[in-house]
Amino acid sequence: METKLRCLPRLLLILFTFSVVGQTAVLSSTESHQRYVKHASGVHPVVLLPGNTCSQIEVRLTDAYEPLSPLCAARKGDGRWSRLWKNNTAADAEVPCFADQLRLVYDHAAGDYRNAPGVETRAVSFGSTRGFLADDAADKELCMGNLVAALEREGYRDGETLFGAPYDFRHAPAPAGQANRELSLFRRRLGALVEHASKANGGMPVILVTHSQGGYFALDFLRRSPLPWRRRFIKHFVMASTGAGGFVLSMQGLATSIAPSSSSYSSPSPSDVLSMPSVGRTFASTFTALPSPVAFGDDTPLVVTRNKSYAASDMPAFLAAAGLPPYAVRLYETRALPVALNLGAPVVPVTCVNGFGMPTPEMLVYRPPGRPRARPRGGVRRRRRGRELGKYSGA
Ligand SMILES: *[C@@H]1O[C@H](CO)[C@@H](O)[C@H](O)[C@H]1NC(C)=O
Ligand SMILES: *[C@@H]1O[C@H](CO)[C@@H](O)[C@H](O)[C@H]1NC(C)=O
Repeated sequence: METKLRCLPRLLLILFTFSVVGQTAVLSSTESHQRYVKHASGVHPVVLLPGNTCSQIEVRLTDAYEPLSPLCAARKGDGRWSRLWKNNTAADAEVPCFADQLRLVYDHAAGDYRNAPGVETRAVSFGSTRGFLADDAADKELCMGNLVAALEREGYRDGETLFGAPYDFRHAPAPAGQANRELSLFRRRLGALVEHASKANGGMPVILVTHSQGGYFALDFLRRSPLPWRRRFIKHFVMASTGAGGFVLSMQGLATSIAPSSSSYSSPSPSDVLSMPSVGRTFASTFTALPSPVAFGDDTPLVVTRNKSYAASDMPAFLAAAGLPPYAVRLYETRALPVALNLGAPVVPVTCVNGFGMPTPEMLVYRPPGRPRARPRGGVRRRRRGRELGKYSGA
């Protein structure tokens, strides 16, 4: 989910120009869209949902928290929120605390994912694009920073015509009827934000722009909103680099247990904490982008080890081989897979933006001594053996 958003700002501006021009026939052709959007009212407000890991998560520890160590207990019970993700300035010694507080547990009685006992979390700055990761330049580029800057150059203003919907990226959509407290809350807040954005702009319907994982959250939101509401409030849905149907790269982190590679995290820094199996593998979102049998077919091998190969339909066996406990494999089958099999049209105008010319793995081949080789998918079906997988940017 690390696709760079370099070309996206220009593409979207072209799109907005067309949609603005298409909408307002009264505008003379000499008026530029730039002038048009500079008028305070009459612009389609834009709501952005960034990609995976782009939202900042804060934590507060109640008295119920059982710390791993005295260090992890430092802020227990003080009622204050502090930055859990992404905190690059914390000492490496705090990583186990962050890991313990970021992991999710599945509550079998409630049928839902939740935080560890005593851990309260929130995604910060809902409503604004300022909460997207922006502490360093690489995060900023990954997390719609260039798009925000380009829109602001065109006259959009944060909190007036431009809004952000950060979300807890550890969670994922679930099938209707299953408990999903986090996503229910998010859908309510996003609905209220869209209505607010529209009302603040003369009743103009809203353009939702998502990147990567944000697309899954928005799709879930749209499909569960009443159709008349969508028609009233959504002008357009732009889904950039969402691998609807999944992508093979999402299996790589899990495959490390099957064929351990050199890139294990023996002493992770705070920015690696999500890659720790004790953290990342507990997330509901770990399963979201796994290749779906609908998109990848039942028989196409996706992960090939010396002993066995796994197609999309072998995902439960793959997850078990990767060391996930049986209840987690069951959650894939009963919670994540039904969502993937049931992806459908949001019934609003949609534009999908996908990269091309990006080498994208379609198969992970593990050979002794365990270094993965990837075969990229794309227009040019050259085999690029021997390139290290980590260098590819996935969809
Ligand atoms: C990061 O963590 C350190 C140590 O816990 C803390 O002092 C600092 O305030 C945190 N950074 C942010 C931005 O909250
Ligand atoms: C693969 O097969 C070899 C030889 O039969 C065996 O020693 C090894 O444990 C197997 N590996 C896995 C991951 O099953």
